[in-house]
Amino acid sequence: MSDGLADLSGKVAIITGGGRGQGEAEARLFASLGARVVVTDILEDEGQEVAAAIGDSARFTRHDVGSADGWAEAVAFACNEFGRLDVLVNNAAICAVAPIVDQSVDEFERMLRVNLVGPFLGIKAVVEPMKAAGGGSIVNISSQAGLQGLAGYGAYGSSKWGLRGLTKVASIELGQYGIRVNTVYPGMIDTPMIAHLNVRRRPGGHPGSPLNRVGAPEEVAALSRSSHRMAPRMSRARTSWSMVAPARDGFP
Ligand SMILES: NC(=O)c1ccc[n+]([C@@H]2O[C@H](COP(=O)([O-])OP(=O)(O)OC[C@H]3O[C@@H](n4cnc5c(N)ncnc54)[C@H](O)[C@@H]3O)[C@@H](O)[C@H]2O)c1
Repeated sequence: MSDGLADLSGKVAIITGGGRGQGEAEARLFASLGARVVVTDILEDEGQEVAAAIGDSARFTRHDVGSADGWAEAVAFACNEFGRLDVLVNNAAICAVAPIVDQSVDEFERMLRVNLVGPFLGIKAVVEPMKAAGGGSIVNISSQAGLQGLAGYGAYGSSKWGLRGLTKVASIELGQYGIRVNTVYPGMIDTPMIAHLNVRRRPGGHPGSPLNRVGAPEEVAALSRSSHRMAPRMSRARTSWSMVAPARDGFP
């Protein structure tokens, strides 16, 4: 078990976008804490590799989070493989940067589809199995771009601000079933999503960041774990939390 993180034995989690980056770190961490995890992604080779590396407590299924049918299949897969569903991490997302005047409507809609409609469909799909499990936890991965305006992030930021609002509403609607809904707001995290920025090599570090450095996927995984501690009874105080991971100097 990892330091300071509670046991997840007996819990079953779906982690979207688990084929790499933060989703992979979450899958590995949750499995190390005793959970059985279903890694989903549109990247089949990467997702299969993550599940194989974790071992018997992990499965992979191809899943496009923008598809309602895809969600029905992924949830049925998790329940068939592991018998229940307790946790959903809405982690999958895409990011394309452009000034509003240059961004196409297609690109804007594509980002909303994956980053916001995807989690919306996911929340809808998991409510019944979580109710059957006696409660559950949904963790939505937003972004610092969901807390502030950042030039070039009109589409991505809109999706992440929207996810923040969706979380707040879902937490109020689903608390009655013992389902908590929380958001994590990572700053800049060193994953393939921002590989083109060469963040590790930035001269002078990251002065806008409290720790003057880019965050690691494992740090967000630990926050995601913290945000859905399986308290005996889910309380309002533990739902609709906002957690911000290290960096503060930008996106996504
Ligand atoms: N990296 C950062 O600096 C940063 C900062 C703040 C927030 N985030 C957020 O963290 C989360 C994880 O991002 P990451 O940094 O690991 O990026 P990443 O690009 O490494 O991983 C995202 C994963 O989502 C998958 N994905 C994309 N579209 C999908 C779809 N339609 N259906 C299913 N899977 C799909 C990708 O294939 C990939 O495996 C995202 O929600 C992202 O917006 C990232």
